[in-house]
Amino acid sequence: MAVLSIRRFGDPALNEKSLPVREVDHGIRDLIKNLAEIMYDAQGIGLAAPQVGVLKRVFIFDLGEGLVSYINPEIVWRSKKTEEEEEGCLSVPDIKVPIKRSEKIKVRALTPEGKKVEFRAEGLLARVIQHEVDHLDGILILDRMSKAERRKTLQQMSGFAQTVPQQEILRRGSHD
Ligand code: NI
Repeated sequence: MAVLSIRRFGDPALNEKSLPVREVDHGIRDLIKNLAEIMYDAQGIGLAAPQVGVLKRVFIFDLGEGLVSYINPEIVWRSKKTEEEEEGCLSVPDIKVPIKRSEKIKVRALTPEGKKVEFRAEGLLARVIQHEVDHLDGILILDRMSKAERRKTLQQMSGFAQTVPQQEILRRGSHD
């Protein structure tokens, strides 16, 4: 696999909808290994495949209890009750913004072993999963902000958000 690196705000890969994984094979497990290395290097708590330019529905996280990876995750239920907490993102470095998320969710996904799982999540776990699923749908925390907040944040980020070179988007192996 090509050397992967974290794509940052402005990179078109971050606004694309990722494609479902057809088969959980060694290629997917390799991808997960790569993602884990990159996430731990960057000291993040979560990372989705499109953040390294791979448009597949795969994400990982570690909330201090070890690495967890999900493939083709679906949020099949979200509580109406929301909570607002500050979130950061490795693709939008150096900012933290308050984002409203459902307090509780129900998730269906595949594990790296190809096993189907279904579970409920709340608190930080629910927040991280909603954040990462957003990445798979091409949505960044900036897209979840009000226009005014977004403008303010972009001004704070200026210099950084200006010219980001268009980078190659890897679609290899997905839906072919
Ligand atoms: Ni993120």
